[in-house]
This record gives sequence, structure tokens and C-alpha cells, in this order.
Amino acid sequence: MLPAARGFVIEDLRRLEADALAEVRAARDPRELEEIRVRYLGRRDGLVSRCLRRLGGLSPEERPAAGAEANRVKGALDRALEERRAALSRDGASSEDEPDLTLPARTAWQGTIHPVTRAVDDIWSIFRSLGFTRARGPEVDTEWYNFVALNTPLDHPAADEQDTLYLAPGLLLRSHTSPVQIRTMEQYPPPIRIVAPGMVYRRDTYDATHTPAFAQIEGLVVDEGVTFVDFKATLAEFARRFWGPGTRVRFRPSFFPFTEPSAEVDVKRIIVREDGREEETDWIEIMGAGMVDPAVLDNVGYDSEQYTGWAFGMGPARVALLRHGVRDLRLFYENDMRFLGQFR
Ligand code: DAH
Repeated sequence: MLPAARGFVIEDLRRLEADALAEVRAARDPRELEEIRVRYLGRRDGLVSRCLRRLGGLSPEERPAAGAEANRVKGALDRALEERRAALSRDGASSEDEPDLTLPARTAWQGTIHPVTRAVDDIWSIFRSLGFTRARGPEVDTEWYNFVALNTPLDHPAADEQDTLYLAPGLLLRSHTSPVQIRTMEQYPPPIRIVAPGMVYRRDTYDATHTPAFAQIEGLVVDEGVTFVDFKATLAEFARRFWGPGTRVRFRPSFFPFTEPSAEVDVKRIIVREDGREEETDWIEIMGAGMVDPAVLDNVGYDSEQYTGWAFGMGPARVALLRHGVRDLRLFYENDMRFLGQFR
């Protein structure tokens, strides 16, 4: 080969280098950089490799200089590609194509039962072990079931207090689960032993202790010879099973149109702290209750001379509040996973 051939190889290599470096500088993402790398440095068809194949045509004296130049160009290109790749990922321009190894791993989503639902389930399972079955009723009900059959005339102040959301004349979102008592007694003869969980609706403001929609769980027992002793003993037993043997229960006289006598039931917990000291909680009202008013039994066609009963309506959100030491009901309903995720 003519001496000029060596010059051509070296010249070509330098031109390739200049072109390649310009392209590398202009590349905007790693995919483009990779295309440039393959085009110039690809083993088989890369432009630099093709140039190198021409080394074979050079004389033995010319070959070392051209070979050395080829290696220098390869090295320079490799470095330029590497630097540009680093610069692009520093700018964040490459986020689409390159995995970001600094991202924290995604842990598997793990669901859990909502604390209020859990309270409903636990309340229900204690009553089940005491011989109760579960009953259900509609959330939209009539004035008859929600008020009148429960011995609450529509002009009675107790109906006002629960004045709720009417969907049509005489048809409303139930303001308590007590209508399930009537529906169950209409359908089945005594003895009755039910708990009825469900949502209820009131015109209440949303605050730390009230929500306009909330869960209730109703209980009803009707049989021959049921007395106030059964009523008190069963509810006290429930409280001890739910909150522990040291739990105290207080019955305060109250009024409900559908029970006589009526009571509000408060619970006080004894909490044993880690250092062994005992701490008492405040009394917290968890339910309304009482002996079923004979007028209610008459309304469903039961013989109120033969049968007696007791009933309660409990608020599971309050129960969950007391169980977990939460101070504001609204926390349960805000769907903040930092809060709800704690109840596993
Ligand atoms: N229905 C009452 C309320 O929503 C709660 C209640 C009180 C239910 C006494 C009862 C009961 O079954 O006997 O406030």
C-alpha cells in the first residue's frame, strides 16, 4: 500500500472521532447515546471497527501508529459516552428510560379491617357465643317502623330529636337500628334473641363525638320470664368479655319511648400500664337500653302479659374509641392511612 494509505486511515479515524464527539454532545437521552455507541463502536458494523479492518492493508511499519490511533479514538469515545450518560442522569432527563435505583422499594399493599367494623364483628361474636343470632333490616324505612311501632308518636319530641333525612313522605333513612326489632318480631314468634348491626342516619353535625351517618348495633331479647336481672347481667358480661374482667358497668336512668324502664349504659375501663400501675378511664356512654315497653310487644301482636324482654342500641364507633384510646371520632372516617394503618 502507498504511504498515503496510512494517512487516510488515521485521517478517517480523526474525522470519525470529531463526528462522534459532536453527536455525543448533542444526544438528549440514553437511548440516543446507545445508538451512537453502536454506530461507531459496534463490533461488526461500527464505523471505527470498519476502519480498523483496513489496518490489515497497511505495511508492518505503518500498522502500529494507525493501531495506536484507533485505540486512542475508541478510548476517547468510550469516555465521552460515559460522561454524557452521567450528565444526562444527573439532569434527570433520563428518568423515562433508566431505572432509578435510588427509589425506595414499593412494599406490598396490605389491607386491614376498619377499627369500627372490627368492633362490630367482635361485639357480634360475643353475643353469638351468648346465643344470639344476627338480623338485618333496610336502611330506608317507613315512619311506622322507625317511630310509630316503637311507641314513638310522630309528634313526640323523641321523633323530633331524631328528625332525619326523608326520601319521600313517610319514607326516611332510618335514624336507629331499632326498626329491626319490629321487623324481626313481626316475622318470628318468641323467643327472640338477636343482634342487628347496620348504618343509621341523623341530622347531626360532624364533630368529635357525632357523625351524621354511623354504625349501630341493636340487641333484643324476648321470652317468657325475662327480667331486669337478665338484662343487667348479660350487658355486664358482654362488657367484661369485650374490655377485660376489671371493666365496670353503670346503668343510669334514662328515657326511650320503646323501653320502660330505660337506661344509659356507661363503661369504665381499668387499664394496667406497663409499670404495673392501674389507671381508670372516665365513664363513657356506650349504649341506650331498657326493658321492652309492653306497648311495643302489643304493636307486633305479641302477648305482653306472657312475654317480657330487654333491648339495647350500641354505638360501635364509641366502643372502638374507648378500646383504642382515640379522642376524636372523625379520625375513623377521614381515610388517612397513617391513622387507619395502625389497627392491624
Ligand atoms: N334507638 C336508640 C338510639 O338510637 C338506642 C336504643 C335505646 C336502642 C334503647 C334500644 C333501646 O334498643 O332499648 O338512640
